[in-house]
Amino acid sequence: MYIYKVGVAGAGTMGAQIAEVVSFAGLPVVVADRNESLSRRGVDSVRAIYQARVAKGKMTPEQLEEKMLLVTASPTLDGLQEADLVIEAVSEELGLKQRVFQELDRICSRSAILASNTSALSISAIGSVTKRPGKVIGLHFFNPAYAMPLVEVIPGLGTDPQTVDDVVGFSESLRKQPVIVKECAGFLVNRLLSPYLNEAVWCLQDGDVSIKEIDQDMVSFGMPVGPFTLLDTVGLDIALDVARILHRSYGPRMAPAPLLEAFVKAGRIGIKTGKGFYDYGAVDKDGLDQHLARLRAQVWQLTGRQQMKWSRLRPLFAMVNEAVIALQEGVASARDIDLAMAAGTGFPSEKSGPLHLADHIGIDHVLQELEELQERVGPRFWPAPMLRRLVDAGFTGQTAGRGFFSYEPTSARMK
Ligand SMILES: NC(=O)c1ccc[n+]([C@@H]2O[C@H](COP(=O)([O-])OP(=O)(O)OC[C@H]3O[C@@H](n4cnc5c(N)ncnc54)[C@H](O)[C@@H]3O)[C@@H](O)[C@H]2O)c1
Repeated sequence: MYIYKVGVAGAGTMGAQIAEVVSFAGLPVVVADRNESLSRRGVDSVRAIYQARVAKGKMTPEQLEEKMLLVTASPTLDGLQEADLVIEAVSEELGLKQRVFQELDRICSRSAILASNTSALSISAIGSVTKRPGKVIGLHFFNPAYAMPLVEVIPGLGTDPQTVDDVVGFSESLRKQPVIVKECAGFLVNRLLSPYLNEAVWCLQDGDVSIKEIDQDMVSFGMPVGPFTLLDTVGLDIALDVARILHRSYGPRMAPAPLLEAFVKAGRIGIKTGKGFYDYGAVDKDGLDQHLARLRAQVWQLTGRQQMKWSRLRPLFAMVNEAVIALQEGVASARDIDLAMAAGTGFPSEKSGPLHLADHIGIDHVLQELEELQERVGPRFWPAPMLRRLVDAGFTGQTAGRGFFSYEPTSARMK
């Protein structure tokens, strides 16, 4: 199915970014929110994204005006009736999304695809309230959508294979990298990123290491920013919400670090409030160091203190282990897992994603390290069973020529 016209329902942060991406690719897009002024605000945000491109010399003012001719505002969802594909980006609340999908189901033509940009809600549950579950799908863009190449395509239980193909083709026409993900809590990227970020907080909570030292070490590993800079950018409250959702679904290995909860409770939730794991100009009677010392002491009183030397392998192996569990569950292929983590989180391209990293290090070494971490840190490092199966069969990674991927016999083990 060719998509000639797109609708965006919900003109907030993501709705505006998605409308920009669609119009940039040359397709007309109608942006609808709850009323005229909110819809117009969305169109103004699209213009502001283009204006930033003009300011950087990446586009001329004339090109901006040409693109803006493709973007129109509708005060209600009724304006989306001609769309072949509607991308819903209203607030993250299941009841609200279900109401919006019922309305879109009534308004849009029977052939139209209805996609949700939800970060964590069930696509199957959203699709179930419509008369077209076969045409309902998850299409998860990352913030900022104009810069992030990845989109997760998530079929629900009732989604038709044709809808998946259509949405993959559409995503490619936007010059995005689509990865098909089996529906599960956190989908793929957030499911793997959350334990990595959470483990960085556990490390901060446990050890004598500072926020800056952890961030610098992960950047020297090759991450685009350190975990605490990323948490401050995303918002500690949002990261905690995601961690809680994953904890509910996957159990104790995803339990949020108590220090993360303590920071959120203390109102230090990141850049948006001027203070988080770093200070961003908010006036506060205590400095960051005093806050950290106080909150750490509070947490130690409740949970005891586990004194461990900082090792970057802790957050990295939390991600690697989850990647293997996701692979076991068939959430995505090994190639797609690595591709998604590189395109969705900036996982360093020379290490090509968590599963390639395991192959480089040696799956036998990863397994041994996880067993040690499980002994010293706790059961959240329980190794994914697939690791042992691979090791027992001699699939130990790059040096052996086979692991999660196959290698030429000459490849050397990464130092
Ligand atoms: N912000 C992110 O970083 C991010 C990243 C990926 C996915 N998401 C997901 O995208 C969705 C939107 O998030 P956001 O950050 O853009 O939220 P937002 O709060 O910035 O925007 C939500 C918009 O939805 C509108 N809205 C609410 N009810 C509506 C209705 N009945 N009809 C039409 N419009 C309605 C609101 O007026 C608002 O403009 C959520 O599902 C979120 O989980 C967010």
